[in-house]
Amino acid sequence: MSIIFCLRVLILFIFNIYCNCEYIYPGLVWNDTDGKSIQAHATGILIDPNDESYWWYGESLKTSTLSDHGINCYHSKDLIHWTNMGEVLGQKQVFIKDLSGPYVIERPKVIWNEKTKLYVMWFHLDSIDYKYRYVGVATSLIPNATFKFVNAFQPDGIPSLDMNIYEDKINNIVRGVYLVRSCHNEYVGISQFTDDYLNTTGITSTIGEPREGHAIFYRNNHYYMMTSHLTGWSPNPAELFITNQDNLHNAKWYSLGNPTNSSITFNSQSTFVLPFPSTKYPGTYFYIYMGDRWNYPNLLNATYIWLPFTFNSDTNVTLQWKDQWSLTDY
Ligand SMILES: *[C@@H]1O[C@H](CO)[C@@H](O)[C@H](O)[C@H]1NC(C)=O
Ligand SMILES: *[C@@H]1O[C@H](CO)[C@@H](O)[C@H](O)[C@H]1NC(C)=O
Ligand SMILES: *[C@@H]1O[C@H](CO)[C@@H](O)[C@H](O)[C@H]1NC(C)=O
Ligand SMILES: *[C@@H]1O[C@H](CO)[C@@H](O)[C@H](O)[C@H]1NC(C)=O
Ligand SMILES: *[C@@H]1O[C@H](CO)[C@@H](O)[C@H](O)[C@H]1NC(C)=O
Ligand SMILES: *[C@@H]1O[C@H](CO)[C@@H](O)[C@H](O)[C@H]1NC(C)=O
Repeated sequence: MSIIFCLRVLILFIFNIYCNCEYIYPGLVWNDTDGKSIQAHATGILIDPNDESYWWYGESLKTSTLSDHGINCYHSKDLIHWTNMGEVLGQKQVFIKDLSGPYVIERPKVIWNEKTKLYVMWFHLDSIDYKYRYVGVATSLIPNATFKFVNAFQPDGIPSLDMNIYEDKINNIVRGVYLVRSCHNEYVGISQFTDDYLNTTGITSTIGEPREGHAIFYRNNHYYMMTSHLTGWSPNPAELFITNQDNLHNAKWYSLGNPTNSSITFNSQSTFVLPFPSTKYPGTYFYIYMGDRWNYPNLLNATYIWLPFTFNSDTNVTLQWKDQWSLTDY
C-alpha cells in the first residue's frame, strides 16, 4: 500500500517536471492552485498595471440561491495557474435605494484608472426578474480586496443588461474607455466613460439589433466585437462584427457572421477577448476567445471555453475547436 502510494507520488512528481502541463482544456473543469474548480463565470480579465500579471473576475458558483451570488477573483502570472483570491464583492456590499436584495450580479469587469489610482468594477445589477436593468459600480485600492460599492444606475438613462468594458489602449496610450451593453435588449450601445470611469457620457456607437456577451478587441486598425444572440442560458450562433474606422465614435459595425462554423458556438457564449503576446510571431499578439459553457450539464457545472482566433485576413476570421492547446503554440 505505502509503496504504491510512494510510487504514485514519484510518478506524479516526474510527470509534472517533464510534461508540458501548460495546456488549456476548453470545456473541462479548470482547477485553481488549491485543486478546487474555478468559479468565475462571465469572465473579465484585468492585466495588472504594475506587474502585467492577470486578474480573473467572474460570477461565483451559479447556484439557484441568489443570496449566495457575488464576484470572485483569481490571480495568475501565466494565464494557466490561478490562485483563488476569494469573493471581492457580495450581496452585502450592494445597495439600491428602492430595491432590497438579493440581487442578480452578472458579467463583472474591472479596469484600472490611472488618474484616481482606483480599480473600478462595473457589473450588470438587477432584480431577480431582470426588471431593474441597472449597472453596479464599485472601486478598490487593490485588485483583490472587497470592492466598495459606489453606485447603481442605468447608464445614460437607458435600461442596461449584458455588458462589458473596453479599454481603447493603443501603443500604451489610453484613447478612451467604453461601456458596451445591451440597451433594453433592443440594441447594442457603446458609451465613453467619464475621466473617473464612474459614469458614461452618452452613446457614441450602436448595433441596431440585440446581442449579448459583447467582447470588443482591436487588431490591425480595426475594432471587432464578438457577440451572441439572445437565447437565455442556451447556446446560439456567435456573431463577429468589425468597424469600418479607427475610432469608436460614430463607428459603423458590419457583421462577419459566425466565425465558429458551429451553430451553438461549441456550446458557449462569448464574454471576453484577450490579446496575448505571440510566441510564434514575437512583437505581435494573438487573440483568445473566452466564453462560458453554461450547461455542463447544468449551470452549477458551467465551464470555460478559451480558444485562439485565426485571422486569414481582416475580414476572414475563424475560431476552430481544440480539445487542448498551448499559449506558446501561437
Ligand atoms: C480538479 O480537482 C478534482 C478534485 O478536487 C479532481 O477530481 C479533478 O481531476 C481535477 N481536475 C483536473 C482537470 O485536474
Ligand atoms: C492580494 O494579492 C497579493 C498578490 O498575490 C497577495 O500578496 C495578497 O495577500 C492578496 N491580498 C488579499 C487581501 O487577498
Ligand atoms: C452621470 O451622468 C449623468 C448625465 O450627465 C448625470 O445625470 C448623473 O447625475 C451622473 N451620475 C453621477 C453619479 O455622477
Ligand atoms: C462546417 O460545418 C459543416 C457541418 O458540420 C461541415 O460539413 C464543414 O466541413 C465545416 N466547415 C469548416 C470550414 O470547418
Ligand atoms: C455539478 O455540480 C454539483 C455541485 O458542485 C455536483 O454535486 C454535481 O455532481 C455536478 N454534476 C456533474 C454531472 O458533474
Ligand atoms: C477564409 O480563409 C480560408 C483559409 O485561407 C479559406 O479556406 C476560406 O475560403 C476563406 N473564406 C472566405 C469566405 O473567403
